[in-house]
Parts: sequence; structure tokens; C-alpha cells
Amino acid sequence: MKKIILIASVFLLAVQCSENQSETSVSPTQTKTATTEISTDSLKNYAGETKKLLVKNLTQKIEEGGAENALEFCNIEAMPLTKSMSEKHGLQISRVTDKPRNSSNLANDEELKLIEKYKQQILAGETLAPTRTATHYYEPLVTNAMCLQCHGEKGKNIQTKTLEKIAQLYPNDLATGYKENEVRGLISIKTN
Ligand code: HEC
Repeated sequence: MKKIILIASVFLLAVQCSENQSETSVSPTQTKTATTEISTDSLKNYAGETKKLLVKNLTQKIEEGGAENALEFCNIEAMPLTKSMSEKHGLQISRVTDKPRNSSNLANDEELKLIEKYKQQILAGETLAPTRTATHYYEPLVTNAMCLQCHGEKGKNIQTKTLEKIAQLYPNDLATGYKENEVRGLISIKTN
């Protein structure tokens, strides 16, 4: 009996974690809102709000107990983005990248091209503008010093304790080796 309870709770935990990790699907009524034309200004606000929430959460967690502590809960970072933001606005908001930590965040071909374009623009010293496609709104996510604690160079920016935790939680992690002001990925909002 004890065993069953244990298995059940492990299963529950796994479900909770994967829920946090995957893009939250929207209910039919919410989808309706999403399909009516959304102004680029509103999308810009949603993306900005999402970014702010991301930085706020990370900074707070790091202050509480260092970067390794911020990694503690499945993915403290992705959770508020994909869940509360998606629910709040009835839109699918997610993050995608060419070098994923969480493999479910891998960019598709079109997104990979866009990431490449943004990288070239940074090298050329150009300003990065949002992109709207027939189905999505994208904004680049660019690294700052704070990001490097978990995405920077091993043995330089990322502390050993943090590295160990990353390896434990994300054995196939590709998201290290960044410097400041590099394209880490995109915020993606599904508009259609
Ligand atoms: C405390 C450690 C930590 C810090 C600091 C941090 N991240 Fe992350 N980042 C993570 C973790 C853990 C994941 C995987 C989340 C998941 O499982 O969905 C991640 C995932 C991402 C992703 C999604 C793509 C992927 O690789 O799975 C992007 C984009 C991203 N981070 C950008 C940033 C940016 C930009 C900053 C700085 C503003 C930043 N991160 C700071 C830990 C961190």
C-alpha cells in the first residue's frame, strides 16, 4: 500500500513538473480571443511583461539562495512564463532557442532563421526589432550579466554548485557558453 502511495505521488510530481515545462494549451474560448487580430502594441506589452516577470523571478530567487537555488524547482523560470502569462492573456507564450537547456524549447526551422538574423544584426550593431509572421509574434531574448550565472561560460561565470545542479536537471543542456549581449533565443507568442 505504501508503495502505491509513493508511486502515485512521484507520478503526480512528474505531471506537475511536465505541466510547468510544456507550453500551456489554451481553452477554446481563449483561442477565440487569440485569433481576432491582436495589435502589435498589445503583443509588445505582453512580451515586455513576460520578460520583466522572468527577470524579477530570477533575481529574487538568486537573492534568496544563489543561482543553484533558483534552479531548484523543475524550472522556476519557465513556469511563470508559460503558465500564468498564457492564462492571463489567453495566448500561448513560450521561449524558443537554437541551444536549448530544455529540449522542448527547441526552435523550429523558421525560428532558427530568425535567431540567426538577430545574431547577425547584433554583430552589425543594428537595433533588434520584433518580428510578426502569419502565426506568431517574436522578440529576441538577449543575454545580460545576470543570465551568465546560469548560461555563461563554465568555470568562469557559472559556479560549480550551479553547474552540478544544471547537469543533474538537464543532462542534455546546450545553453551555456554565452557572453553578454548575445541572442539566447526568442519570446514567442502564438497569434493565430
Ligand atoms: C538561475 C539560473 C538561470 C538564470 C540566471 C537564467 N536562466 Fe535561462 N534557463 C534556466 C533554466 C533552468 C532553463 C530551462 C527552463 C525549462 O526547463 O524550461 C532556462 C531556459 C531559458 C530559455 C529557454 C530555452 C531553453 O534553453 O530551454 C531561454 C530563452 C533563457 N533561459 C534565457 C535566459 C535569459 C535571457 C536570461 C537572463 C535574462 C536567463 N535565461 C537567466 C536557468 C537560468
